[in-house]
Amino acid sequence: MTDIMPMTSPNVARAAKRLCAGDLVAFPTETVYGLGADATNDKAVAKIYAAKNRPQFNPLIIHLAGAGAVEDVGEITGPAAMLIDAFWPGPLTLILRRVQHCSVTLLASAGLDTVAVRVPAHEGARELLKAAGRPVAAPSANSSGRISPTTARHVVDSLGGSVDLVLDGGPCRVGLESTVIDCTSRPLRLLRPGGLTSEMIEDTIGQTLITDVDDDVAPKSPGMLSSHYAPRAKVRLNATSVETGEVLLGFGDTKDADLNLSPAGDLTEAAANLFAYLHRLDREDVACIAVSSIPDAGLGRAINDRLRRAAAPLPG
Ligand code: TXA
Ligand code: MG
Repeated sequence: MTDIMPMTSPNVARAAKRLCAGDLVAFPTETVYGLGADATNDKAVAKIYAAKNRPQFNPLIIHLAGAGAVEDVGEITGPAAMLIDAFWPGPLTLILRRVQHCSVTLLASAGLDTVAVRVPAHEGARELLKAAGRPVAAPSANSSGRISPTTARHVVDSLGGSVDLVLDGGPCRVGLESTVIDCTSRPLRLLRPGGLTSEMIEDTIGQTLITDVDDDVAPKSPGMLSSHYAPRAKVRLNATSVETGEVLLGFGDTKDADLNLSPAGDLTEAAANLFAYLHRLDREDVACIAVSSIPDAGLGRAINDRLRRAAAPLPG
């Protein structure tokens, strides 16, 4: 059942509590409606991927109440600081390197060592983020491959019952997603054109952006996953036994598993554990991580996509 509530202050306070309890809360920003979850909670983040029915774990944008909160999440370099001063709050997302003790789950970064952050200009959105008191992961609140939602009705039509609560704040002001800038590249790189123009950004940093990507950021991120996140150990898929020198990452009622993604065979739970467990098993003395077979349906497709990338040998 999806609750739809007008975005009043008491409802924002209620919605913040639901976010902290691990629920999915859709909320308006100045760009499009976001599908929000507690970015520090693996299970809540996994629910986003399940609700959007994404074939891959695209990394998610992390929303903050104010620029002061970035320090717990990403490293701010010179040009990023200039962009923050000039354009936050506003429709600008910055890709930063994750800080060592990043509070955002690795799942929200899709296993990358970077994190996308923004402070929305929408006042209700910031009130919600402030009340939640933690970073909130929020991709556009549409199912994968559909158009981004700019009204509460779009959200319900696209995601149906898989979102717990929708805050209705009327139509979005910008209606076009935020501009995404990769601040880990020199010169900075435009990954997705959006609500803020490149010219405004270039004027501020006094530098020309690299703009070799067209209108879709998606090919870059997933394409980079295999080289950005590959365990040191080999990965063997669809394992039915464990050989010498291997550890076993199980699923369902697997015997001898060193770690089990979900003993109950629950794909949402498995997605929530995936990146964290691969990291834990990837120790010095382990030659190979064997992985039990995962059903290739629903969220299982995204898990298998990610596992295949982890198993693929590194290019070069
Ligand atoms: O306006 C917006 O940005 C909306 C509202 C809700 O804030 N959000 C949004 O999120 O459009 P989403 O998930 O639909 O788009 C995020 C884009 C994706 O294309 C993703 O690949 C890219 O940002 N992205 C996120 N983290 C990244 C990272 N670490 N490196 C490269 N690209 C990243
Ligand atoms: Mg989107």
